[in-house]
Amino acid sequence: MKYIVTSALPYANGKLHVGHVAGAYLPADIFVRYLRLKGEDVIYICGTDEHGTPISISADKEGVQPIDVVNRYHDSIKAAFDGIGIEFDNFSGTARPEHYELAQEFFSDLYANSHIVAKTTMQFYCQHDARYLPDRYVEGICPKCDSPGARGDQCDKCGQTYETTLLKSPKCKICGNEPQIRETKHWFIQLAHFTDQLKAWIAQKDYWKENVRNLMLNLLEQGLIERSITRDLSWGVPVPLPDTEGKVLYVWFEAPIGYISSTVEWAKKMGKPELWKDYWLDPDTRLIHFIGKDNIIFHALIWPAVLMGQNTPYCLPHDIPANEFMNLEGEKISTSLNWAIWVDEFVQDFDGEYLRYYLAANAPERQDADFNFKDFQLKINGELNNVLGNLGHRVFSFAALNFASIIEQVSLDEAAQAVLTQADSTMAEIASSYEDYQVKRNTRLIMDMARSGNRYFEEQKPWLNIKTDREKVKQTLWVCAALLQRISVALSPILPKHMKALRQMMSLPDLLSWDDAFVQRDFRLGEFKPLLSKIEDEAIQAQLDKLHAKAKNKPQKTYEPVKEQITFEQFSALDLRLAKVLEAAPVPKTDKLLHLKVDLGFEQRELVAGIAQTYKAEELIGKTVTMLVNLEPRKIRGILSNGMILAAHDEDGLHVVLSDGGSPGAPVQ
Ligand code: MF3
Ligand code: ZN
Repeated sequence: MKYIVTSALPYANGKLHVGHVAGAYLPADIFVRYLRLKGEDVIYICGTDEHGTPISISADKEGVQPIDVVNRYHDSIKAAFDGIGIEFDNFSGTARPEHYELAQEFFSDLYANSHIVAKTTMQFYCQHDARYLPDRYVEGICPKCDSPGARGDQCDKCGQTYETTLLKSPKCKICGNEPQIRETKHWFIQLAHFTDQLKAWIAQKDYWKENVRNLMLNLLEQGLIERSITRDLSWGVPVPLPDTEGKVLYVWFEAPIGYISSTVEWAKKMGKPELWKDYWLDPDTRLIHFIGKDNIIFHALIWPAVLMGQNTPYCLPHDIPANEFMNLEGEKISTSLNWAIWVDEFVQDFDGEYLRYYLAANAPERQDADFNFKDFQLKINGELNNVLGNLGHRVFSFAALNFASIIEQVSLDEAAQAVLTQADSTMAEIASSYEDYQVKRNTRLIMDMARSGNRYFEEQKPWLNIKTDREKVKQTLWVCAALLQRISVALSPILPKHMKALRQMMSLPDLLSWDDAFVQRDFRLGEFKPLLSKIEDEAIQAQLDKLHAKAKNKPQKTYEPVKEQITFEQFSALDLRLAKVLEAAPVPKTDKLLHLKVDLGFEQRELVAGIAQTYKAEELIGKTVTMLVNLEPRKIRGILSNGMILAAHDEDGLHVVLSDGGSPGAPVQ
């Protein structure tokens, strides 16, 4: 079986952070390393995504050429990957001649096959800069949610898209002036042409992750709309049609073609320029795209359609494992707020494999995950050091002390056999999890294997037996060494460097295949060097301090202006009382409302309060709250609400004004 494994091409306009690594790169690198152990024929392909408006905007700001920005970040990103052992077979870039040529061929094939239609559309145009303002070149207020910072046709805040002409208060990103709207001509891919083919294709993908498959099925259900695949820009792949000066291919149209052009480049470097065809033109090749969840539509829908519209019979994606996001200390990673852990800085402070282990053990596979420094410390110290390190340490030192570090194979009793049988079934589970991209589960299974070794060692009490039954002790050590041998293979896709070191310490040959885990042998143990040193509290505190110090101030909080002054009489008109909550229950078919019954001393009342998102009904029962009792009653969802509970509204929701004493009915004055 041949495999092409790819990771989303990172934009060459910023450094690499841990969120990127957790989503699209580490899982792919681990998968590739596993496939190699299984003897599969696999190439791992990537490169930087070098077009798009953020890159040309950065270049404009710095007064340099886009290619200068691209080269700088290409090198920085590549160095960061090297620092954490992400090893591509080729790491190219989409501004290279091979890519331009191929991207234009892709457009031309679609065009010749009548899948592209030209249309006149409206676009922002800056008179001052004498240019069109596509995508991020214009910013304004979202017509849907009123957030600032919305782009020409899409708002990052609410995720909605709209007609360009609806953007409120548009401003040119270059000069700040208000742009005009002008006509322009663009080319649209007719995705609907591929509906049947896509449906038939997706029907076989019942093994896909649910998030990807469901999104696809929904989109196909809704009906596919045409998409513009050109832009009015100078930086990009020129549109290969006559009279298209100043027009380039849309970055999202041409970037995935980079997977192929990078393979073409790889084949040339290998001295076999046709070699890429063995992979891309074989319909049985397993093409697997690792991406983050924000890239699903482009990889699972538009890209396959583009491939289907080619004259060259490229293979289609076999699978698209999309991961969720990684947050940082409870908040969304944000490069603009500098709320991020940059890989190049991290590897100056810690071994890059610490990061691999933590991101694997805490992988955002099915839901968003959180990078938490304390948890990072706990996983490295508690698992790699205390569990795995401990097993290695006790086996090595006991063997050195009593057997000159040589543990010959012995016959195994039932207990010993049981430990290994269990380990071998765990190994089979680990193999199938790797095939299923379940790296997080594997870190757990591998630690379980190490734990079973520690448990067995303790049960066997070799420190007692050594005086009476040396053979038995030899058996104990041999079983534990055999577990370490298995771990040195099973953990190697995640921690390649450290598992190589472990194998060297155990005088095991260089790892060649998964089966090396099971070779029966005598063990010659060398000197045990702790695999990973413990992370001290101070080191973690230093990271946290650095993170907070570098974070740009969060957007200033805004407060409602203070209202007009009132007289004491006006205040006295409000009859505020303490009330004790007797009963509380959610109002059916709503998610905000609670139906309350309260005691006011002189009477009991019922009312409806919009606090269900902040409080559970049972949390409120027995609490004393402040209530406005002379507000005119109102019917809410069929319930007569007689009074209002005081609550403060902030970005988290409503917070009820609670009193920690006082008797029901007492007036607030
Ligand atoms: N540069 C894009 C991102 O970082 C990913 C591009 S993937 C490709 O979100 F397939 F289009 F190249
Ligand atoms: Zn302008």
